[in-house]
Amino acid sequence: MRDANPGTILLKDYQAPAYLINRTELHFDLGEEETTVTSRLHLLRSSQEPAALELQGQELELLQVSIDNQVLPDSAYSVTENGLVIHELPEQCVLSCTTRILPQDNTSLEGLYKSQSMFCTQCEAEGFRKISYYLDRPDVMSVFTCTIEADAQRYPVLLSNGNLLETKILSNGRRQVLWHDPIPKPSYLFALVAGDLQHIEDRFLTASGRDVTLRIYVEPKDLEKCDYAMDSLKRSMRWDEEAFGREYDLDIFNIVAVDDFNMGAMENKSLNIFNTSCVLCHPDVTTDQGYQRVEAIVAHEYFHNWSGNRVTCRDWFQLSLKEGFTVFRDAEFSSDMGSRTVKRVEDVSMLRTAQFAEDAGPMAHPVRPESYIEINNFYTLTVYEKGAEVVRMIHTLLGAEKFRKGSDLYFSRHDGQAVTCEDFVCAMEDASGVDLVQFRRWYSQAGTPVLSVRDSYDAANQTYTLEVSQSCPATPGQSEKQPFLIPLALGLLGEAGNLPLRLAGEEPDPETGDNTHKVLMVDAPSQTFVFEGVAEQPVPSLLRGFSAPVRLDYQYTREGLCQLMSRDDDGFVRWDSAQSLALQVIEQVQEQLAESQPLKVDRLLTDACQQLLADESLDPAMVAEMLTLPSENYLAELAGEGAADVELIHRARQAVQKAIGIAVKDQLLARYHSLASDAAYAPNGEQIAARALRNCCLVYLAAGGPEHLPLAASQLQSASNLSDRLAALKVLAFYGEPSASESPLAQFYSDWGHETLVVNQWLQVQAAMPDLGAVDRVRSLMQHADFDIRNPNKVRSLIGGFASANPVNFHRSDGEGYRLLGDVIAELNSINPQTAARLLAPLTKWRYYSGRAELMRAELQRLAELPGLSPDVYEVVTKSL
Ligand code: TRP
Ligand code: ZN
Repeated sequence: MRDANPGTILLKDYQAPAYLINRTELHFDLGEEETTVTSRLHLLRSSQEPAALELQGQELELLQVSIDNQVLPDSAYSVTENGLVIHELPEQCVLSCTTRILPQDNTSLEGLYKSQSMFCTQCEAEGFRKISYYLDRPDVMSVFTCTIEADAQRYPVLLSNGNLLETKILSNGRRQVLWHDPIPKPSYLFALVAGDLQHIEDRFLTASGRDVTLRIYVEPKDLEKCDYAMDSLKRSMRWDEEAFGREYDLDIFNIVAVDDFNMGAMENKSLNIFNTSCVLCHPDVTTDQGYQRVEAIVAHEYFHNWSGNRVTCRDWFQLSLKEGFTVFRDAEFSSDMGSRTVKRVEDVSMLRTAQFAEDAGPMAHPVRPESYIEINNFYTLTVYEKGAEVVRMIHTLLGAEKFRKGSDLYFSRHDGQAVTCEDFVCAMEDASGVDLVQFRRWYSQAGTPVLSVRDSYDAANQTYTLEVSQSCPATPGQSEKQPFLIPLALGLLGEAGNLPLRLAGEEPDPETGDNTHKVLMVDAPSQTFVFEGVAEQPVPSLLRGFSAPVRLDYQYTREGLCQLMSRDDDGFVRWDSAQSLALQVIEQVQEQLAESQPLKVDRLLTDACQQLLADESLDPAMVAEMLTLPSENYLAELAGEGAADVELIHRARQAVQKAIGIAVKDQLLARYHSLASDAAYAPNGEQIAARALRNCCLVYLAAGGPEHLPLAASQLQSASNLSDRLAALKVLAFYGEPSASESPLAQFYSDWGHETLVVNQWLQVQAAMPDLGAVDRVRSLMQHADFDIRNPNKVRSLIGGFASANPVNFHRSDGEGYRLLGDVIAELNSINPQTAARLLAPLTKWRYYSGRAELMRAELQRLAELPGLSPDVYEVVTKSL
């Protein structure tokens, strides 16, 4: 644990490093009791002032320091809690340190640690300093060599970045390997793995003829689960050549799967390390969404080789430079591999539910933050997902062709450099000639803008007028906001389809192409757009494709929404209109419930569901998305501060679901049966879409009445894959009597208890069951032999699942849900601060919950007063109070 009152790091304090490290030679002596690390850093002074040099280091035991092979006396340096200060250093020298570390005791999963019997590393963002003293900052890029010495039997596989240069058998049963990575990189991309692993191997021939060896290393029992990730990797490599002109630059690319990992995966140069949950695939352990996730994450980490590794970040405030851009790239890849509209719907749904809430909460920060206490707390939805939206808007503003010119210029201009978000925007401007001065506010201003649209139609003059205004709520440290440049994509829907668009004063479009779609540049607090030649009163199709990460405020009528839903030519708008219609209906039911009126669910909604189910020409995946009601978390987010009533939201959503289940029962049953298939499982678009809709039908049927539960029970018995099995199990667990779900849950465990990744899903289902026994159940599952608080996947499934996917129980009126979360965070604070801090997110939203705010605050307060708070937890707790 570091000091109790950790300091704040500011972007404006950035200074270039005083020394460069041209070469870094590392030697690891891996042992069960202790590990020693010897570094040789080839330093070169880069600034004028001959100063003392401070290297970062944490939890290291320093054994020896030398300069140019001369051991330094104690007086020549001082060791502090966070580093090593060398009092005087020549302009150029080799600084060597020998340190002792205890990876076997490192539960933070940062630095060098053990996962099961394997050694592995996680250095981003600042984990390298737990391995050796270093200039642990991304703007210090160095060529690394790494020798690893370890017991030959326990650790037959010894990996690091780059190429394997030599292997030696040592005396006393040990073996030594030497790795060399020719490409300069910052320390956060260093990686080492040692274990008794097996691998699958394949190869990829790059566009210019480089023959790359691809390997995926896993524990022997998982060797059968690697093929899908390997195929995904090859697809990613091809796609990056075609879509971005980016080729792989080394002869080898390795992936290693580890069980204990704080995040999804890590893009270490040529040695990506993955959470097993994000790389292993098998029909019995992976759902359809799981397959898609693996494909997307393999691609994401691979794409980092250019957007992150070859061109890296100057400092951690620029994190979105690599993450926002790489999320944009992986989203484009997934869109090209599957359905673009479905991918967009999934991403927007997540953004609006979780990122908008983050942007409205106490941890709100710009895409490029200006300060932090603990950088690990800034791997956020804002940096990743909103950052990707910002890149997407640049793509919209420039058009595909100029965007590609911009990315080519960015990569060629900055190859081998550590740069800023500003450098990225400049490259885009320089290559396209498009002015992005005002656009830059997306990087510096936090908060979700609100875009209000009012319209009027003038039949006599055939003009249609849109009054558009924007505002952005205050966020911590930013009370006033300047207007954003918001690309507003739109169309106008008439009786016979989408109308041609012509703005007043604009020449009729000479192009014969699509003139029913337009992107308006909204750049002022309020402005007016007049369309001419509009022959009928249209329904506006606004924010097509979700062209900007804003909240749209336009008063649609339910009839207008129904028209958009069934006839607009933008798939995203069709889905969004279905969501808006459902929202209006759920809100109405909430009022009825609150006032104890009889419940009436608008027939417009049930009729719309019926039409969706009846139309077999539609993509079943889109029908499933359109039928799925907005989540309880999204409904709470929309309710706004002080207005979210979890109970009411839950009851209203359930009531609407039930009404749909009853009203369209026949269509649901028909499609449930007709979508059944006995084809062998394949994670392809067609099958995934069919299962999604079929399982969506099953949910509605079960919500409609218990007479359909046997369908779920028999599906659970006969399913050939985890998607169908888990969908059935959830239906039994969520819609059956709690007592009746005991035996399917027990049966499921006895069938699949040997598969860790399936056990995680099993825990997650039980964490999310809305019955009143949830808190007790979660507490007792924490005692289950398969639960392990040191494994982040287990914690996320059970505790994270409870706090984020079980609102009625998390927000129990007696505060027992908060207490449960608080207890786990208190324990995890000293074991794994990163994961502990992430778990806090649901508690930080206390301002939303009417009648619960005080209890939630009290739990935060209790945590704030704990002794020995990690900087991670300290930052989130204090900023939230
Ligand atoms: N750079 C990784 C990615 O997004 C994120 C990551 C993996 C990470 N492990 C981490 C970030 C640990 C912080 C701490 O691809
Ligand atoms: Zn990333």
